[in-house]
Amino acid sequence: MSRRMSELSSPYQVCVAGTGSYVPERILTNEELAAKVDTSDEWIVTRTGIKERRIAAEGEFTSHMATHAARRALEQAGLAAEDVELIIVATITPDTPTPATACYVQQSLGANHAVAFDISAACSGFLYAMKISKRLISDGAFKNALIIGAEKLSAVTNWEDRTTCVLFGDGAGAAVLRRAEPHEGSILATEMGTDGNLTHLLNIPGGGTACPITSANVNDHLVTLTMMGKEVFKHAVNRMKEAAEKVIDRADLKAEDIACVIPHQANLRIIDAIADRLAVPNERVFVNLDKYGNTSAAAVAIALDEANRTGAFKRGEHIVLVVFGAGLTWAAAAIRW
Ligand code: ACO
Repeated sequence: MSRRMSELSSPYQVCVAGTGSYVPERILTNEELAAKVDTSDEWIVTRTGIKERRIAAEGEFTSHMATHAARRALEQAGLAAEDVELIIVATITPDTPTPATACYVQQSLGANHAVAFDISAACSGFLYAMKISKRLISDGAFKNALIIGAEKLSAVTNWEDRTTCVLFGDGAGAAVLRRAEPHEGSILATEMGTDGNLTHLLNIPGGGTACPITSANVNDHLVTLTMMGKEVFKHAVNRMKEAAEKVIDRADLKAEDIACVIPHQANLRIIDAIADRLAVPNERVFVNLDKYGNTSAAAVAIALDEANRTGAFKRGEHIVLVVFGAGLTWAAAAIRW
């Protein structure tokens, strides 16, 4: 049986019933960064499209941002916290190495009947969570799921490294998935992939068992994000294009059928290249990285919520989400809204 047939012939179709997002109040502008490291607003805007990003307050953790976003998604979905059956938080910046950030979110929401766990797939995590929970709902194991992408990247950023510190920000986005009624839209196709041969291109080398946290490792900036930007850029364009094409094909769609493409928000030049290769006009590609920078797993989730709430697409229209991140990982989803 083809992958497309197996997704469409599952016992239950799965829809996105609500979305939500949250970003911290504090805005960090390019000009402020230029006062700290050797960069400029002009360089950052020309090379990335980013104008500002949000930075979480000192006592504001990933789970706090995740909870705010989750409440908004639950409210839009009309689902009470005590009725949530599954919570998956996608993050590379958990509150604590263990327990999972999803457990803190469960507690703060009062979602006492939910199973909760985290996944780590960097910027691709939210769509990994979507595929996992879609399958668990369509198989009948759960009736609904709350999926969240949440990051406090400011905590793992080397603020002395101009090649990375201008790129990242903090925030959270969430979506409620549930069994779809026959008249409702559904997630039509999903795709995810990984290339573990490219772990060296983008990582936080320290903080795990390979390079434990010691004061020497912290001083050497081994517990902050490092990236070979140019290499990552090339893979990002190719992998996102392929993943998007796969879900478009499996959902039986053509470029002209897509009301909105919501890509990972890392770099405007990457987004433009994807739009070009998919032959989707720029006005149908959602962009908000100018306001938030790259918030890793949160980025596509925040973008989905903003696109949803600002009317970038309507009920019955088709959208495509596509992401890329450390691992390297990538994923895509085609949805009839
Ligand atoms: N300000 C000024 N100059 C800078 C800055 C800066 N902030 N950063 C780098 N430069 C300099 C470099 O030193 C270099 O100078 P040189 O030519 O004298 O050596 C020059 O600018 C060009 O640097 P490049 O790295 O070649 O710039 P590039 O055009 O590739 O842009 C960028 C860099 C923005 C990082 C880009 O490569 C990119 O976006 N890559 C993909 C990132 C991505 O998609 N990440 C996704 C996953 S993130 C995750 O999973 C958490």
